[in-house]
Amino acid sequence: MVDGLQGNLIMSKSEYNITVNGETKSVVITEDKPLLYVIRDDFNLTGTKLGCGLEQCGSCAVLVDGNKVLSCNRPAVEFVDKEITTIEGIAKNDVLNEIQQSFKKFNAAQCGYCTSGIIVSLTDLFNKKKSPDRKEIIDNLSGQLCRCGSHASVLKAVNNLIEKRKMNG
Ligand code: FES
Ligand code: FES
Repeated sequence: MVDGLQGNLIMSKSEYNITVNGETKSVVITEDKPLLYVIRDDFNLTGTKLGCGLEQCGSCAVLVDGNKVLSCNRPAVEFVDKEITTIEGIAKNDVLNEIQQSFKKFNAAQCGYCTSGIIVSLTDLFNKKKSPDRKEIIDNLSGQLCRCGSHASVLKAVNNLIEKRKMNG
């Protein structure tokens, strides 16, 4: 009886192909292993952070096929055959993307724990909208918590980026 119960509790592992930042790896995982843990453990990419683990703080945000997804709770097996991009994959050829550059210019971080999630989230927005309005920016950032209170400098960086885009036509 006990053996049977234990047998049910131990999930077996299987092999899945997961693609992160253009690299496809065959990972051997249980079907409930969250995407965040696969990114950190199996791909050794630690820029994506575990905060709440409950899809409430935004620190684990990644892009999946170009759309923001919180990776802490959803199993990696949902993302087989999808293109996952983490903060490490957002800069191209060591050139920071325009959001990263603006964050750097305005020192838009304190401890930095939330920062990769915020940048990923804003990358989703700015990839889709050339000049998002205030409501769209606030909506985008509303799920991105920061215990250090960096949002004022984040908004400065965002406004700077919008101005820069306008100047560049
Ligand atoms: S760690 Fe995923 S939303 Fe907080
Ligand atoms: S900069 Fe520290 S949590 Fe946001």
